[in-house]
Amino acid sequence: MINLILFGPPGSGKGTQAAKLVERYGLVHISTGDLFRYEMSHNTPLGQEAKRYIEAGELVPDEVTIGMLRNKVEAHPDAKGFIFDGFPRTVAQAEALDKLLAEKGAEVSALIALDVDDEEIVKRILKRGQTSGRPDDNDESIIRKRIEVYKKETAPVFAYYAEKDKAHKVHGIGSIEEIFERLCALIDQLVEA
Ligand code: C5P
Ligand code: MG
Repeated sequence: MINLILFGPPGSGKGTQAAKLVERYGLVHISTGDLFRYEMSHNTPLGQEAKRYIEAGELVPDEVTIGMLRNKVEAHPDAKGFIFDGFPRTVAQAEALDKLLAEKGAEVSALIALDVDDEEIVKRILKRGQTSGRPDDNDESIIRKRIEVYKKETAPVFAYYAEKDKAHKVHGIGSIEEIFERLCALIDQLVEA
């Protein structure tokens, strides 16, 4: 299996690039943010719980997110591999992911971080907010809160995989196509190795 974590701050292009990567590599895309938004749009109990956190720019508790992720992975027993987008967001989630994949005799192949600076992120998310309909994309203070949570709770996930020699960085500014080519060059190199 090839299991990739597409990593980076909110607005760094994870969803955009994941959609292109699944096509090229035949992997299953799992975006926990999209899963939460689906639950919220159907007003399910999970959606109602997640909404409180998401609209404040905070993280949904680990046990909720991990349970949802596990269900989604288990729904694809024959997958050639996965692209995880927006997960893991904490070291506890990373440990749970490693355990889940180990149960399948698999592992995280690589974490790839899209490197984008804060001011570019705020600009991109406000622009996305004009069409995304996401309340958390339309308020600069919530966006800044999400960046702060990323630095405090999510950035340590990079170090966690760096220690296993699995963490990589890709320059995340440029055209969608340029960034996609950078990602593919790295992935091809990793898959060959
Ligand atoms: O990944 P995305 O930016 O779409 O996530 C949107 C929101 O969903 C996050 O700001 C956070 O509130 C919540 N989320 C979370 N835990 C995750 C993924 C998303 O709490 N693993
Ligand atoms: Mg996304």
